[in-house]
Amino acid sequence: MGLIGITLAIAVFLASSSPVLSENILIKGGTVVNADRAFKADVVVKGGLIEAVGPGLKAPKGAKVVDATGKYVMPGGIDPHTHLEFPFMGQVSNETFLSGERAALAGGTTFHIDFALQWEGSLKKGLAEWKRKAQRAISDYGFHMAINKWTSETAAEMAEMVREGINSFKFFMAYKGALMVSDELFLDGLLACKKLGALPMVHGENGDAIALAQKLTIEKGITGPEGHSISRPSYLEGEATGRAVKLARLLNVPLYVVHVMSKDAIEAIEEGHRAGQRLWGEAVAGAISLTDEPCWDPDFKIAAAHVISPPLRSREHQTAVKAALAGGSLQLIGTDHCGWNTTQKAVGRHDFRILPNGIHGIEERLHTAWEDLVNAGLITPPDFVRLTSAEAAKIFNLYPQKGVIAAGSDADIIVLDPSVTHKISVATHHSSLDMNVFEGKTVHGKVTTTISRGRLAWDGKDILLEPGSGRYVRMEPFAPHVYGGLDEQEKRWIGERFPYGPAPVKRVGDK
Ligand code: URP
Ligand code: ZN
Ligand code: ZN
Ligand code: ZN
Repeated sequence: MGLIGITLAIAVFLASSSPVLSENILIKGGTVVNADRAFKADVVVKGGLIEAVGPGLKAPKGAKVVDATGKYVMPGGIDPHTHLEFPFMGQVSNETFLSGERAALAGGTTFHIDFALQWEGSLKKGLAEWKRKAQRAISDYGFHMAINKWTSETAAEMAEMVREGINSFKFFMAYKGALMVSDELFLDGLLACKKLGALPMVHGENGDAIALAQKLTIEKGITGPEGHSISRPSYLEGEATGRAVKLARLLNVPLYVVHVMSKDAIEAIEEGHRAGQRLWGEAVAGAISLTDEPCWDPDFKIAAAHVISPPLRSREHQTAVKAALAGGSLQLIGTDHCGWNTTQKAVGRHDFRILPNGIHGIEERLHTAWEDLVNAGLITPPDFVRLTSAEAAKIFNLYPQKGVIAAGSDADIIVLDPSVTHKISVATHHSSLDMNVFEGKTVHGKVTTTISRGRLAWDGKDILLEPGSGRYVRMEPFAPHVYGGLDEQEKRWIGERFPYGPAPVKRVGDK
């Protein structure tokens, strides 16, 4: 290589490896919304962090000024549940880290937690595989790890994952023959999580019963997407969720129930709350704004696009999900973003059992939740911040680094203009998908600016970040919000429950 070649190579290397530097930014005149209150204030961003929040702040040298008059200034959205480039049901979902995060940032989500899978039985291999997928990431991201096999290495590998910055593990009670775990494995997993201060997450559906119901549905001649809904009734979600909740109660382990879609599962969670459990329930954007009606659409493309597990459900369940978010039975909103193109979904045209499961929402979540919860009068803007950002930050031990507009926090910030109306469409979305399940939905309120770790990421028109400028964010174990006080509770524990805590337990009246 000649001198010019070397110079060029160095220039290309620098261009591709140098991080996009954070900027000085002043956000002026807006209403800052945190989970506890909303107040008028300016926000100064410097060095990737929020430097100051208060009235009448001066722009730092060379700062970009964002006029937020009449707008809300809120912590960037945290999506606790994504599947980018997800290998599942014989295919890999079309949405990559790059396209998915472009969509996320355009929709005001600045951090997401993606589900890495145990790979060839190994968690270490799974993490390496997901780090490879994330090489072209542009925003901050973290990982959960799903476990479906228990080997002699698994407990030690879980400890290693925690050292790598993963503080949550997912267990699937569905997908028989693939990701599904037995109650025995789930119990082992719960104990291992408790020891490590990690949070177990559960997909609550009875996989054995569903496998049989699927077979019977096919035998009845129902092969289309509606068969997916028919073979996964809400009571099987309620049964498995209730079982998971009770197994966690037995061992006194905190538990996070992902993608709660039904009244039945909500009731199981409420029962756990009444028993005093540390228990969180996640709604997903689709369950708030969609029903299962399109699964019966004669156009296969439309029906297939709405297939997700647990399935979208009737209006009655949708109303229950919204009420549970407003009333506190469910504590946060994710997406389960798992983006398949129509050609990928088409594989299941003649058999819903092989139709890839999953819908999208990473770009739409904040807008649709704003429309169907805040504009509908069910929750306030601070509730919105709690449900879409702050609570996830607390659960996954990132608070107050994320989830709040405060001096010292990461400058992950959105500006939402409540006066801008827009229509969601595949024609204008940033995702790589060729369908949009929210097509045609009108939303009053739009994210006009997104700041990711101090970098202007979205200006209302364009995504401004370079591929590869994303950052893996570690999440430490023993989140105070999840594990705080648990030791003390078990030390003093007397009474009804099985005492499988770490300390010896005496019953009332014992000498
Ligand atoms: O249908 C879904 N939910 N696909 C993604 C995998 C999961 O269960 O979260
Ligand atoms: Zn799941
Ligand atoms: Zn999922
Ligand atoms: Zn909480």
